[in-house]
Amino acid sequence: MSKVIVAIDGPAGSGKSSVSKQVAREFGFAYLDTGAAYRALAWATLNGLSFERLAANDFETDFEYSISTDPDNFWVRVGEHDVTEAIRTSLISETVSSVAALSHVRDFMKRLTKKIVDECPYDGAIVEGRDITTVVFPDAQSRLLLTASEEVRLQRRSKELSADSASAVVNQVSKRDETDSKIVDFMNAAVGVTLIDSSNLDFDQTVSVMIAQIKADLKASAQ
Ligand code: DC
Repeated sequence: MSKVIVAIDGPAGSGKSSVSKQVAREFGFAYLDTGAAYRALAWATLNGLSFERLAANDFETDFEYSISTDPDNFWVRVGEHDVTEAIRTSLISETVSSVAALSHVRDFMKRLTKKIVDECPYDGAIVEGRDITTVVFPDAQSRLLLTASEEVRLQRRSKELSADSASAVVNQVSKRDETDSKIVDFMNAAVGVTLIDSSNLDFDQTVSVMIAQIKADLKASAQ
């Protein structure tokens, strides 16, 4: 039987990771953070994988990637290395957009995402990332775009990355959104994708709104 797919897109700081994780718990589904694979590949280029090989599309055999889909036990590995924490640094955040801009990398990530979802031991998956509703799973049973005003997103992001100064975060998030949005339009909901604006919602309220929308979508798709 094929799995239920809930696809969630959104810009940096929209809260999509923490919200998606909680939604996955409530449905008893897998949680897949697709940005982690782009970050892990960026980490690999800073730890032995040459950018030339990446650019020449000769990297797949050297990039041994694995990720947990359990929302209560999250980890990311590249080969033997646990990179769960290492992929969240500012350096990775600065490097990752140039990795994500390569079209063959995006094709690879699309295949990788589908494989991870196929093989995960759950009946359904909450899959989040910049192009999930449009490119990777345009036929998902539920497709949501979680956003928030720029001001709110910057505030949330600077709380997450407490080691960085607030102004560095502002620059980083704005710059990354600008670069990434040239590749994938994650700020505007595509046809069939429901926009959820969390600017005036707290975490629990956002989770409740998402769950209600997903239930309605799953009901409609079953008819
Ligand atoms: O969501 P994030 O900040 O962890 O994403 C890391 C980078 O990967 C970001 O630059 C956008 C990119 N990305 C993407 O292009 N497509 C995805 N499905 C997920 C992430």
